[in-house]
Amino acid sequence: MTSSPRSQLIDPSLLDSLLGTASGRFVVDALAECPSTSSVLLERARQGIRSGTLVVADRQTAGRGRRGRSWQSSAEASLTFSLLWRFSGGVSRLAGLSLATGVAVARALVGCGAGGVGLKWPNDILLDEGKAGGILVELESEPGGMLAVIGIGLNLDLPPPGEEPFLYRPAALAQALSPLPDRHQILARLLVELAGVLDLFADGGFSVLRDEWQVHHAWQDRAVRLFDGGRAEREGICLGIDADGALLLRTASGIERCLAGDLTLRAA
Ligand code: BTN
Repeated sequence: MTSSPRSQLIDPSLLDSLLGTASGRFVVDALAECPSTSSVLLERARQGIRSGTLVVADRQTAGRGRRGRSWQSSAEASLTFSLLWRFSGGVSRLAGLSLATGVAVARALVGCGAGGVGLKWPNDILLDEGKAGGILVELESEPGGMLAVIGIGLNLDLPPPGEEPFLYRPAALAQALSPLPDRHQILARLLVELAGVLDLFADGGFSVLRDEWQVHHAWQDRAVRLFDGGRAEREGICLGIDADGALLLRTASGIERCLAGDLTLRAA
């Protein structure tokens, strides 16, 4: 049986050759399979590996999503990786890091030629309003600063019917890009944009990226419901985000600042 080109392991030297000015900034470990790239990287990060280390896997057997959910992916249909980045200072300097990551992913997808790229608070990647990917950022303090494990999962193809991994309609890059570029090209574009955005974030925090996030905001001024732990908490008009990445909702009681939850659209 011939293997699909999408299921071939990422080649770190080929990837590095596509990174341009970001060449040499990443240490790449490509795995055929692991439980979760974020779990593997977090474990290694605690042993002191260098900032910029990336674990990319063809298959995760226990991929993790936000809020304790699982994340399904397969070699043919997805690009799944986690990136270690170290920051000086305390946790308060990292407010909005997952949204900043969304800006980098949006830049990369647009740079690859995809249309209909949108961001949904807090960290869903949309293509024509369907969910094409997600971001999971995990933070730990360490002497002198913080480490962040930035996990990103992108659908290259749609999951098979009946296996939709999301709460929302799934979407895939293959719907927005024809032909779909090789995974090395897509990953290289993501890494170049991540390097640029994470540098900006480290210097200026999320406030310097907030306007760009807003440009991609898919649900600006839409009527939404915010769920927390399965319970509909608040309803209102989605006004976007503030400089710390908190969601601003216009509700019956005024403008409320929301820090966590899942958004759904309300029927008009
Ligand atoms: C979400 O719930 O939308 C976030 C999903 C993040 C999934 C990625 S895939 C690579 C990394 N490894 C994991 O186990 N999770 C993240």
